[in-house]
Amino acid sequence: MNEVQKMAEKQEAGMNTGLQEEVHFSDDLYREHILDHFKNPRNFGELANCTLRHKEQNPLCGDEMEIMLKIDGQQAQEKKLVDIRFQGQGCAISMAAASLLSEHIKGKSIEDVKNVQPEEMLGLLGVQVGVVRRKCALLALKTVHKALEE
Ligand code: FES
Repeated sequence: MNEVQKMAEKQEAGMNTGLQEEVHFSDDLYREHILDHFKNPRNFGELANCTLRHKEQNPLCGDEMEIMLKIDGQQAQEKKLVDIRFQGQGCAISMAAASLLSEHIKGKSIEDVKNVQPEEMLGLLGVQVGVVRRKCALLALKTVHKALEE
């Protein structure tokens, strides 16, 4: 059983995965949407021959996320994100955010990926999050941006 499956079990058992606190669901559809990405994360796992790899920690809980990026193109303006994978462990919000972000940025130019703003990431989740959960929601975006700084 992998980490995501274990966390999905915790969710089903009613344990804290971040969905119950500090998250305001305006619609049950959003809850379903997040749980779907948490239980079946897109682009989860190892990426062989990645160009960049970076790991970040959520300072509030210690959860870690690693992002692997495959970039194509020689000139800065031609560079494109051709593939992405992530792995690590975290609450439902952080894992769903990584899954949603990976789908959102795959295939984009590196300039466009660098310009993804926190509000855009929160918009992908479709829920309002409090201060603590904001760190969870933005962990994947922060990890991608740090990887691109290297
Ligand atoms: Fe650790 Fe959300 S509680 S990433």
